[in-house]
Amino acid sequence: MSPHLLSVDQLDLDRISTLFSLAQRMEPIARREKVCRVLEGAVLGNLFFEASTRTRVSFHTAFSRLGGSVCDTTGFTFSSMAKGETLTDTARVLAGYCDAIVMRHPDLGSVSEFASAINVPVINGGDGPGEHPSQALLDLYTIQKEFKRVGRPLEGAHILMTGDLKYGRTVHSLIKLLTLYPPLHITLVAPAGLEMPTYLLSLAEDRGHKIELRATLHENFEPIDVVYATRIQKERFTEEMVENFAGVTDEYRVNKAFLDQRCTPDTIVMHPLPRDSRPGANDLSPDLNQDPRLAIFRQTDNGIPVRMAIFADLMDISSDFDKHLAPVSWRVPAQYGVNDTTF
Ligand code: CP
Repeated sequence: MSPHLLSVDQLDLDRISTLFSLAQRMEPIARREKVCRVLEGAVLGNLFFEASTRTRVSFHTAFSRLGGSVCDTTGFTFSSMAKGETLTDTARVLAGYCDAIVMRHPDLGSVSEFASAINVPVINGGDGPGEHPSQALLDLYTIQKEFKRVGRPLEGAHILMTGDLKYGRTVHSLIKLLTLYPPLHITLVAPAGLEMPTYLLSLAEDRGHKIELRATLHENFEPIDVVYATRIQKERFTEEMVENFAGVTDEYRVNKAFLDQRCTPDTIVMHPLPRDSRPGANDLSPDLNQDPRLAIFRQTDNGIPVRMAIFADLMDISSDFDKHLAPVSWRVPAQYGVNDTTF
């Protein structure tokens, strides 16, 4: 088995189930009810050559909460790749320093190239428009947890994905994971030129899923269980696209009116974040911030136990980390955000 997590293509239902059982066991640590020192002495190399808040900080937090320490490198400027060092030389050097490495890089396939040179576990934290496997795992973990709350199975669920489905690596990884499950109804709503790649549509259809393509959100849909919105990834546009792109209209905006008119009281709204809150961006609307169906911060919170589970699995500590648990010694707030809503 590969020591790395580079793509969701490496996962099957058994492995996902193992990871999610581990994530559940990690929840008391993630909720700060317990502390754990099982990775004491281990060092994580956190290499981010593209902007990140959630992935970088949550991998850092997950490793730290298991007792390990973390070295961060952010941006090319502060790495010797700025002096022409190759990915594979950098990888071999880092493998001598660190016990696990998380890497984000703007180029498709770059994290796999980096990982090919070393035996220390490497986790793909996003390779350009390619994949983001840990995000897809935490998204699926969130969907299953939210469905459990309302007592509905994943099978037959209607999942609507919208936004930039061409460059959004989170939706590429998520749709691949979802297609491993019994048939789903997946509706895709993207602005012209930003549609889901056809190889992913074929994969989903070949695996028996119902795929529906719609032009805008201003249409009628069958009852939706999950709305998964994404940001327009302008940073990945070609020069020609930047010149010709007029922006997205509110036909792609997930907001309270859309939820009230076209969804149900049990629909959940997800987004990998960040959402673009600048005027005219028409990304996921803040008018849902007080609506408990907005699951985006429950989703980000789930990033910690899921990323702990990935470390536990790749670093082979899954059988005995419970022995290292102790009570926390500080006060933890009952809710992390002042506006957190509950059901
Ligand atoms: N979802 C996600 O990858 O967020 P960041 O870019 O902040 O890491």
